Amino acid sequence: MEQNKNNSGAKRECCEPDPFCFLPVPVAGPMEEVPSLPDACDPEYQKLQLKDIKDAYERIRPEIAKTPCYLSKLCSELCMQLYIKDETKHYTGSFKERGARNALLKLAPQHKKNGVVTVSAGNHGLGLSYHGRHLCVPVTVVMPQDAACIKAERCKALCAEVQLRSGDMGAMMRSVAEEAKQSGRAFISAYDHIDVMAGQGTIGMEILEDVPDVDAILVPIGGGGLIAGIATVVKKLRPCCEIIGVESVKCPSFHNALVACKPTFVPCSKTLTDGMVVPCVGHNAFYNARRKISRLVLVDEEMVERAMLCLVEREKVVAEGSGAAALAVLVAGQLPDLMKKRVVVILSGGNIDSLVLSCALRRALMHEGLLVRFEVRLDNKTCATARLLQVIAETGANVRDIRLERCGHQDVDVFSVLVSVVCETCTWKQSEDLMDRLEQTYPEVRFERDPNTREC
Ligand SMILES: Cc1ncc(COP(=O)(O)O)c(C=O)c1O
Repeated sequence: MEQNKNNSGAKRECCEPDPFCFLPVPVAGPMEEVPSLPDACDPEYQKLQLKDIKDAYERIRPEIAKTPCYLSKLCSELCMQLYIKDETKHYTGSFKERGARNALLKLAPQHKKNGVVTVSAGNHGLGLSYHGRHLCVPVTVVMPQDAACIKAERCKALCAEVQLRSGDMGAMMRSVAEEAKQSGRAFISAYDHIDVMAGQGTIGMEILEDVPDVDAILVPIGGGGLIAGIATVVKKLRPCCEIIGVESVKCPSFHNALVACKPTFVPCSKTLTDGMVVPCVGHNAFYNARRKISRLVLVDEEMVERAMLCLVEREKVVAEGSGAAALAVLVAGQLPDLMKKRVVVILSGGNIDSLVLSCALRRALMHEGLLVRFEVRLDNKTCATARLLQVIAETGANVRDIRLERCGHQDVDVFSVLVSVVCETCTWKQSEDLMDRLEQTYPEVRFERDPNTREC
């Protein structure tokens, strides 16, 4: 009886809010108290073991080639030995193939025959569809209505049944799992299935083969399967290596789970990092990962867009938002203590609609100050427009786009014209010169970004 009392007391204490991680705004920084909580505080969950991951490594190896982990061209700018673990090189463009194949290979015979069902915003669905076709297992992918259409179309092309559904993801997940059970199929969670996490953990094994003395690994987090897998291997084989989780500010579900000491739902909004939008982290993923993560860092859309541009321009790689998120932290200079260290970022995927990619790159150029967009009202005379072009030309900037609106706009009358211009420049300094010249010549000029908040 006494013991029971103590136990329940201990449990309550563990689950009490941790003042250190109860920060209203998640920030980069150590969360020292999280790892010190004793295991006994955790509820039941499926524990991922190093052996599960080693077995998965053997199991998936024949079909899933080792991905490159190369030294980045950004090493000198970022003052660190930075490696990029490029998971875009899988056939379906993301790391999700690892977990999907491992789970499919471990299916019970009746599930191999009846098939599998999943809920996925795309990449897990793609991995499952591809390997399901290869292994002759029927696959159904339930996607949220607003999933990237490139991913839905590719799943269909890989012979999967795709169902687009709207509504709350949590409820969708529960109903799909129930439907799978009723129909004798297996439900394979994109992040919380133990075999999926084990498959994702094989990335950690490959990293340790290629960079055995790695100091820190930055991992994007959605439902938490990827980080749970990688952290399980790395903390076992190289305990001094730091595992840093990266989440989107638009969906900080792991952070909130740490705060609440259990997975909880957070409201999420639309983001470029669609693969990282999971309103409630996986139960197994959370308890397997939480003490192995030393820091959580949040990224916003601008940071991700800049990293995507950086990857295209410097590394010649196309990354989707979630794929660029880990690098975004470093490009934004969020973790200066990693300077001079050996760091690996997981470039987790490259599936992105071309139009979204072009929009993200364009926005990144604006953040970098290399695209300047403005509106100015001029006299409705050709010479006024010619004068504007001359002002631009004198700064050496190039006009990429110009639109003149004479009527049908509330800001113009019959004597004026509203000119919208997009200029490209070669340097930040040139953009500043252009903006200064425009402000001097046209005090009413309106920039898309506030010129007073221009910073590099
Ligand atoms: C490209 C990409 N990166 C990261 C993640 C996050 O992985 P996890 O849900 O296992 O945390 C996902 C998940 O779909 C993804 O597609």
